[in-house]
Amino acid sequence: MSILKDKRILLGVTGSIAAYKAAELASKMTQAGASVDVILTRAAEQFISPLTFQSLTGRKAYTDSELWGGKSHILHVGLGHAADLLLIAPITANTMAKLAHGQANDLLSITALSAQCPTLVAPAMDVGMYENIATQENVQILKARGIFFAGPAQGRMASGLEGLGRMVEPAEIIGEARRALGLKHGKLAGKKIIITAGGTREAIDPVRFITNRSSGKQGYALAQAGIDSGADVTLISTPTALTPPIGANLIWVQSAEEMLNAVLGEVDPKVDALIMASAVADFRPAQIADKKLKKRAGIPQITLEAAPDILKRLTSTQFSASSSPKLRALRPYIVVGFAAESHDLLSNAADKIQSKKLDFIVANDISAKDAGFDVDENRVTILYPDGEKEEFSLRSKFEVAEIIIERVGKLLGEMNARFSHL
Ligand code: CTP
Repeated sequence: MSILKDKRILLGVTGSIAAYKAAELASKMTQAGASVDVILTRAAEQFISPLTFQSLTGRKAYTDSELWGGKSHILHVGLGHAADLLLIAPITANTMAKLAHGQANDLLSITALSAQCPTLVAPAMDVGMYENIATQENVQILKARGIFFAGPAQGRMASGLEGLGRMVEPAEIIGEARRALGLKHGKLAGKKIIITAGGTREAIDPVRFITNRSSGKQGYALAQAGIDSGADVTLISTPTALTPPIGANLIWVQSAEEMLNAVLGEVDPKVDALIMASAVADFRPAQIADKKLKKRAGIPQITLEAAPDILKRLTSTQFSASSSPKLRALRPYIVVGFAAESHDLLSNAADKIQSKKLDFIVANDISAKDAGFDVDENRVTILYPDGEKEEFSLRSKFEVAEIIIERVGKLLGEMNARFSHL
């Protein structure tokens, strides 16, 4: 979550029973390194106390009593100007109405009016209130103004009714906060990245398949790091046990063939980078039985055939970052591959750069017990087509992802500088 490190988050809390979840939000963002200043409305104080937030953030939590204090006229301006993100969670129908119409009659609404940063709101109210035309029109006004929304979700209300209006969970709000911060501060804002993740599944019959030990962790970490950098991320994933990053455009696939089709469907001239973190099957059953294979029929002989090599299919006619402008114009995006090797790591990875025409490859030794498949850490070497290499010590898959995303951004910058005249 390093995007939250050293960021100033202004957390507005309004009067809803979901206010208790704001405490978890404040705590998680503080743990991630953000400075969290909290403003409670008078109604919020009925549900939760400023002391709760002060204890969790180690910073003063503000209430309307400050509005009438000696420093109030600079307080709201100062808080609004210093913030990297204004997050109001939960936001009631009343505070949304104030924001939509520029009303400013308490510390939170005055601060919101003077804030210069992106604003994210997480509505919480009863279903009838949310669906009311007045609220819906306010939602539309705020969205049209570029205010980000997290939720609301469908579910059971405190009133016992079911419907749309529950505040979404803190994890989802933090995911949206990361996206909003990335769009404002990230180096890849406006860039489009496609990332593949997970091990493909090659069907034997309707219930069985061949797969591999890939967990998808590195690919999902890349998707999150891309979103943190402001990129528009499409994540093409096989089924995994992981929660996909908030804000990624998801495409679910199973087999290498499906992944190939999804990648081909997504890469167009607007794409800036393709990162193939997926462990794609090299072999698949030549025949898929249409009915479940039965034991009584004896042990089946499964003949394998080659699965499509996605990178080779994409790059067969193409080139690397150093290619001539004319060639480059035909493949205007960066292509990054991974090399999972159990031996001869660097020479195998170097071969793959050439055979798959990559801009760089991320090589990792899958025979190591502490890194690679299915664990949270990775030890990688990045190799470039000109033979340059960068070696990294063991670090979290998220840190590895941040390095890769940073290198993609650097290459895109170099490519744009070189071909800007085209
Ligand atoms: N890859 C691909 N299509 C395949 C297999 C791999 O696009 N059918 C991609 C992977 O996503 C990865 C890169 O190619 O980015 C290298 O994958 P890897 O499994 O290390 O290499 P292979 O080409 O499969 O060769 P080998 O398994 O023999 O090492």
